[in-house]
Amino acid sequence: MAILDIARMGHSILKEQASVVSSFNNNDLENLIKNMKETMFHVGGVGLAAPQVYMPLRVVIFFVPADRNDGIEVPLSVLINPVITPETEEMDEDWEACLSVPGLNGVVPRWKKVKYTYQNIDGSLRERYAEGFHARVVQHECDHLDGILYPMRMIDLGTLSFIGAENADE
Ligand code: NI
Repeated sequence: MAILDIARMGHSILKEQASVVSSFNNNDLENLIKNMKETMFHVGGVGLAAPQVYMPLRVVIFFVPADRNDGIEVPLSVLINPVITPETEEMDEDWEACLSVPGLNGVVPRWKKVKYTYQNIDGSLRERYAEGFHARVVQHECDHLDGILYPMRMIDLGTLSFIGAENADE
């Protein structure tokens, strides 16, 4: 197990299209996922995509705490080769932050309801429906697999701000 370094906005790995995972049930994939989980909990995030730890593969992990999702917890999940399909044209706007954009947050529009398919660590295919914060986290993490960071999704860059700045003393 290891705590991995996290790439910050500006690094080329965060701008690339990540590669499809084609080999399952192997130590390399299991170790990557273990290290990603340890790293995410170490830094206190709710999601992490493999390119953020310098591994350009289509792997994301996330969990949704109950208090951020109308009381509905989504346990720690591993999505391999995820594909998102919007289930509505409705968008929601809410605040997002990213471990690769430390210290900042901003308001980002996301699909309100999505369906997503993905593979498990054994390669089996799964499907889930998500809304609210769950849908938001999955969209944010999967964007990392296509070289997109949340500021690139923002409509009003005026909301981009340092976390806590609004309460800071002068
Ligand atoms: Ni992020």
